[in-house]
Amino acid sequence: WVWRGEVWLKRTMGGDGDGHPDGEPKRKEKLEGFAFWESIGRPKFVLAPMVDQSELAFRMMTRKHGVNLTYTPMLHSRLFVENPKKYKKENYESDPADKPCFVQFCGDDPETLLAAAKMAEKDFDAVDINLGCPQNIAKRGHYGAFLLEENDLLRRIVSTLHDGLSCPVTCKIRKVNSHNFQDTLNLAYDLQAAGCSVICLHGRTKEEKGHHTRIADWEAIKILKGRMDIPVIANGGVETYDDAIKCLEQTGVDAIMSAEGLLENPALFSGNTVSVDDLAAEYITFAEKYPPVQKGAVKSHLFRMLHPKLQVHTDLRAKLGKSHSFAEYKAVADEMRSRTMGPHHSQTGWYRRYRKNEPPRSGSRPTDHSSVPVSHAGASAAEQPQGRAEATEEEEGGEEEEGGDVSTVERESKRRCPDPNPCLAQRGEAWAAEG
Ligand SMILES: Cc1cc2nc3c(=O)[nH]c(=O)nc-3n(C[C@H](O)[C@H](O)[C@H](O)COP(=O)(O)O)c2cc1C
Repeated sequence: WVWRGEVWLKRTMGGDGDGHPDGEPKRKEKLEGFAFWESIGRPKFVLAPMVDQSELAFRMMTRKHGVNLTYTPMLHSRLFVENPKKYKKENYESDPADKPCFVQFCGDDPETLLAAAKMAEKDFDAVDINLGCPQNIAKRGHYGAFLLEENDLLRRIVSTLHDGLSCPVTCKIRKVNSHNFQDTLNLAYDLQAAGCSVICLHGRTKEEKGHHTRIADWEAIKILKGRMDIPVIANGGVETYDDAIKCLEQTGVDAIMSAEGLLENPALFSGNTVSVDDLAAEYITFAEKYPPVQKGAVKSHLFRMLHPKLQVHTDLRAKLGKSHSFAEYKAVADEMRSRTMGPHHSQTGWYRRYRKNEPPRSGSRPTDHSSVPVSHAGASAAEQPQGRAEATEEEEGGEEEEGGDVSTVERESKRRCPDPNPCLAQRGEAWAAEG
């Protein structure tokens, strides 16, 4: 047992756990809770797990700008176990330079989750269980936020991974419901008792997504932090660096996680203002160095970073939509830079697409909102002749929903089965992909 400021924590051995006959540990000592948190440098700023979007290139880029803990995109435990070679080739990226990093899995079967996690544990610092995905595909597949009320099952999942892995197990949850926060607390107590080392709470329910996204409940996160004996990460509603600091102060959590804010502004946690042109160019460089296994990731990132300007320069939006090579992406980014030097972040940014009337959480924002990007023709966004300012999903290469963490699977299914009456074999394949 070790004393870590707040609590006593048990040091355990991972896997079979036995020592060598000479008394030396057979495996690396497994730390838990705050002892583990300390061992990974007490991270403050966290890049959220995002299917298609927290790929290695983006993880490495955000690290350069202040992120000190990353998560992989969600991996599907059953699909991974069924065909590890194929699944890894299409979905799995790790690198010794990307440390600390948690690998995230979804699933509802303890043994399948353990089998999948065991194939990944050597490459990552912890294994995270996705208990937050609110999408229909998660409902159909019985995972993510649709397990939040199945405390017995979740206890079994966490304890199975806790006992079977040589690295810690962590959980990312949402608020269980909006009427009784005690349900969320009870779930968190259960997860902690079963061996969860770090808990991340997204301060919204599974119903609060997409156009129904509401302000994240930091008060709930604060209460959870006050009750837990393990590190707590806050997630939701961080748009700026000031928001992040405010959330840390208001909730007292150990770290702040951001998803959409970082997609729009990968330098969010640095507190520095970096132009969208520099960010886009830098991301392309990272993507060339660490080519994403999901090819669509590059385009999606560029659409999100360049969102305010693409609403003005609609010809470049169309051009980006048709681009497929790094040379083409660079050409769009260079052309954009040559046309305008707009702000990196504004009321027209991608983060605000569902939140146009929502006041900022903290008083200050990183840029001057009066400076609307000016097009090459000298017209402001409002004056543009093109009627439609928002890009379509097709142009952006993916769905727009929060927790768009199923887009790859669904797009993949559509690609395989473009015909509304696909042959049975294709249907089976699509069904398998959708879990
Ligand atoms: C494109 C996208 C993909 C996501 N994929 C995942 C995922 O794989 N696993 C997960 O737990 N959450 C996923 N999420 C949810 C985020 O991790 C995060 O919980 C949510 O966006 C709220 O944080 P935010 O307010 O900072 O955006 C995804 C979100 C987005 C926007």
